[in-house]
Amino acid sequence: MRAAKDYIVFSLDVPSLKEAEQYVALLSEYVGMFKVGLELFISSGPEIIKIIKKLGTAKIFLDLKLHDIPVTVSRAMASIADLGVDFATVHCGENKEMLEAAVAGSRGKVSVVGVTVLTSVSGEDIDAAGFCPEFSSNISLLVMKRAQMAMEAGCIGVVCSGLEVKMIKENFGEGFVALTPGIRPFWEGMNKDDQQRITTPAQAIENGSDYLIIGRPIRDAKNPKEAAIHIAEDIEEALHSLSNPKAE
Ligand code: C5P
Repeated sequence: MRAAKDYIVFSLDVPSLKEAEQYVALLSEYVGMFKVGLELFISSGPEIIKIIKKLGTAKIFLDLKLHDIPVTVSRAMASIADLGVDFATVHCGENKEMLEAAVAGSRGKVSVVGVTVLTSVSGEDIDAAGFCPEFSSNISLLVMKRAQMAMEAGCIGVVCSGLEVKMIKENFGEGFVALTPGIRPFWEGMNKDDQQRITTPAQAIENGSDYLIIGRPIRDAKNPKEAAIHIAEDIEEALHSLSNPKAE
């Protein structure tokens, strides 16, 4: 059975290898996975992957959000697969061929996850980007359309907001993995930063999320370790209520 901490994916959104290493050393025992994004990977390269492996057993999520012509995406994913990470992302915003290319490039060595619609994007943004009102008035429809493409292309799941997880699971099955950013713990005062479609850790778990991607609420906390522990407690409580609905 998974422990509550295994649901936490800490986003290593820091500019240097040195800072990243400090967070990995501090949090390895308190989170289930580290997410390496563009900022850190551009500055540190694959070295950070080695460090995470050396300092613990947490999984690794390489979030480079590939978005290019299929052959380029496939070759990039093949390089990612050789790094020995667990999950890697590709954008769903183009066509199915791009997603299929990512899956082909992974050669079964890394789980490919589709990014549906960024959680920082609002309906107005979708409208301004030229999408028809059907999607700008209901972002969930766009998320579902892109998730469908991801599933058909062979992705193991998608990144989506905690608000969309229920629908994803209902339509694509429990086994289709949902990773949810835009997590804002209630005790954090729900500071949204640039996120638009947010949920608390408990809401995301109740909706069926498999992994909670959390950056600033842990990184910028006075005590990041305590913040991770506190979030794991919230997750534990939500998991407990899910398995004991009558206790509510
Ligand atoms: O600091 P915060 O908790 O908002 O960080 C969220 C993380 O999740 C960031 O690293 C961001 O790149 C990532 N992410 C996101 N929305 C997506 C996909 C990934 O916020 N749709």
